[in-house]
Amino acid sequence: MHADNWYILGAGSIGCLWAASLCHKGLTPRLILRESSYQRFEHKRIPLKLSTQKQVKCFDIDIVSPGAIDSPINRLIVCTKAHDALAAVCSVESHLTDSCQILLLQNGMGSQQAISDTFPEQIVWAGSSTDGAYLSAPFDVCHAGQGQTWIGPIRKHKDSTQGFNGLLENFRLKVSQYDAIEQKLWEKLAINCCINGLTALFNCRNGELLDNDEKQTWLNQLIAETSRVLTALDIETPSLQECVYGVCQATANNISSTCQDARQGRATELPFINGFLIDKAHALGIPVDNHRKLMDQLRASGIQ
Ligand SMILES: NC(=O)c1ccc[n+]([C@@H]2O[C@H](COP(=O)([O-])OP(=O)(O)OC[C@H]3O[C@@H](n4cnc5c(N)ncnc54)[C@H](OP(=O)(O)O)[C@@H]3O)[C@@H](O)[C@H]2O)c1
Repeated sequence: MHADNWYILGAGSIGCLWAASLCHKGLTPRLILRESSYQRFEHKRIPLKLSTQKQVKCFDIDIVSPGAIDSPINRLIVCTKAHDALAAVCSVESHLTDSCQILLLQNGMGSQQAISDTFPEQIVWAGSSTDGAYLSAPFDVCHAGQGQTWIGPIRKHKDSTQGFNGLLENFRLKVSQYDAIEQKLWEKLAINCCINGLTALFNCRNGELLDNDEKQTWLNQLIAETSRVLTALDIETPSLQECVYGVCQATANNISSTCQDARQGRATELPFINGFLIDKAHALGIPVDNHRKLMDQLRASGIQ
């Protein structure tokens, strides 16, 4: 049996990164796969490879499916995309203890609140991360960019100081507790909602948005609209234009995750990024015509 059961839901890039990092710390997390994926594996203990620029490490890890979980879950780290997160947590609902702590690592906003509302008994945390990881093959993860992850409880809870303390020290990922986690989620969303959708629409690298032409004009309009929403919500951020331009310059050669999803014909997380912003703006009565136009044109191009 697993005394302090750590479960990771979703065995993609971030799920494998967090699973390997917990193994590196000496913990024994288990990776939860979809039932259909799990059935394809004959062996339920599999090698998990973690590569960085400096080294490669291998760990053995148990995989499970919702139907194969045989111990209560009291630590769950959710590593699916935003649009899959609620259904994924619901698939393991019967295994969650009442005091289970759930950490949500999705980009964007909206999915965290939906899960927190659906699971009022459990202590739900959200995280915002600048780590970069990708899978070279199943269970073979490359930690390409060492970043910073902020985590904080979504609702105030008397036990929430205990939650994920174990991740704050002696952990190969840089994790800090940040109680006003919504602020961090907004900071990242504000930048992503200016850059990601545009890169998908123009099928371009981040740096190409600063073209002194059509793309940059649209980028500036998105920045102005987003800034007005942030101001109305009393969310203090440094100059959004400086942040967005800084990201475009620092990651000029990168292809955003949204552009990659669009290229592969996968659903993007934009409904939880620009979609969330548009809903908030609507509730506040702030026009965000350029965000709407962007979403309309993406839809017309078959990008969801
Ligand atoms: N990768 C990064 O560098 C990075 C950095 C910062 C933040 N993030 C954020 O982290 C989140 C995860 O990103 P990612 O890159 O790890 O995505 P990913 O590689 O696509 O992994 C998501 C995984 O979740 C699995 N999944 C979906 N629904 C499931 C369910 N019901 N049960 C079990 N597994 C399920 C998917 O399986 P299927 O393939 O079968 O659907 C997939 O393996 C996203 O919100 C992303 O924006 C990623």
